[in-house]
Amino acid sequence: MMKKISILGSTGSIGRQTLDVVRANREAFCIMGLSGNHNIDLLEAQIKEFQPKIAAVMDHEKALELSKRLGKCSTEVLAGMEGLIAIATMEEIELLMTAVVGMVGLLPTIKAIQSKKNIALANKETLVTAGEIVMEEARRNQVKIIPVDSEHSAIFQCLKGYNLKEVNRIILTASGGPFRGFQRNQLEKVTLEETLKHPKWNMGKKISVDSATLMNKGLEVIEAKWLFDLEQHQIEVVVHPQSIIHSMVEFIDSSILAQLGCPDMRVPIQFALTYPNRVENQLQRLNFSELRELTFEKPDMENFTCLKLAIEAMNQGGSYPTVLNAANEVLVDRFLQRKIGFMDIPNEIESVLENNPFKKVEDINEIIVIDQWTRDFVNNRISS
Ligand SMILES: NC(=O)c1ccc[n+]([C@@H]2O[C@H](COP(=O)([O-])OP(=O)(O)OC[C@H]3O[C@@H](n4cnc5c(N)ncnc54)[C@H](OP(=O)(O)O)[C@@H]3O)[C@@H](O)[C@H]2O)c1
Repeated sequence: MMKKISILGSTGSIGRQTLDVVRANREAFCIMGLSGNHNIDLLEAQIKEFQPKIAAVMDHEKALELSKRLGKCSTEVLAGMEGLIAIATMEEIELLMTAVVGMVGLLPTIKAIQSKKNIALANKETLVTAGEIVMEEARRNQVKIIPVDSEHSAIFQCLKGYNLKEVNRIILTASGGPFRGFQRNQLEKVTLEETLKHPKWNMGKKISVDSATLMNKGLEVIEAKWLFDLEQHQIEVVVHPQSIIHSMVEFIDSSILAQLGCPDMRVPIQFALTYPNRVENQLQRLNFSELRELTFEKPDMENFTCLKLAIEAMNQGGSYPTVLNAANEVLVDRFLQRKIGFMDIPNEIESVLENNPFKKVEDINEIIVIDQWTRDFVNNRISS
């Protein structure tokens, strides 16, 4: 039987690769909903190819333009957050791929969970900003959250069939990003172009910057805590520049399981779409006789303070991860617009965390208030 799915963020890097997987398995999947924000040229092409029932565009003007362009096409075009939620909660779908970037994915993900949809989760900011609430909602609705991030997919695969009580710790691997080995004075001079050139992965702009600051690994530590219900001390990060081992689980008997493969996001995406089954594909295979070395080193948290700040925010709990995430989203956006330098990202995040007036978080409405307070605080500081 065909699995009916919707994709939030189909025009992005993960969204496009999800459609590659669907293209290679036409008989297995049926696309019911797609969404984009600015790139309506690509969304239009995707609509023509996959003929979803609904397409949503966050930007209202672009939604109107797309609707005009499509004319009498059978796909209904919706706009704004209402559109994203409509796609996420469509009666027909079994699985929602959340591949938007940023905390904008939170509300549609929550609504999808409440509508009993399983979630293939790429949008890590959702779990960073509201992990406890999202996971509790998933438990209450008996919904599966299947990770798409390569590290979390690796751990998810290593854990299959094991009791979480038998886990001693997990080891998240990190490539180290384009500036591995750099000192603070070198990091102060890096350009946007250098930052976006990741040595191993070809990704969207925000996650590329996050990978360069090591904030991405910090966000992943928080994501792992909620996904796998772990204590802080059970999560370790190790730099593994070859990006062949995607992550590992150490069990209480000291045995370690790892998941390996060529760095290609279509592998964890396909696993999330076909879970609990595996299906054959034509992707590149690992050739062990050509693998010269697999190396490991400690992450440098002195020069790359974003990782340290994220771990501290997780340890403080409550509102701190929400503040960290919102500040990072604003600052990365400003860096992408060339308004601030690379090192302003960790420096400003540190300052907003020190000024955080919120402690506990009770519900999604409070998360939204804290997120907005943080965005205003950071924007005011930068403008002055
Ligand atoms: N890329 C990777 O290899 C990778 C790996 C692991 C995890 N992830 C995670 O997956 C998520 C997506 O990453 P990505 O690299 O695919 O990002 P991306 O290439 O920037 O794509 C983001 C998608 O979200 C849409 N979008 C952006 N802002 C939006 C808004 N305000 N409202 C609604 N939609 C919006 C974009 O639409 P338009 O393009 O139409 O503007 C696009 O479809 C992130 O959370 C990232 O951390 C990515």
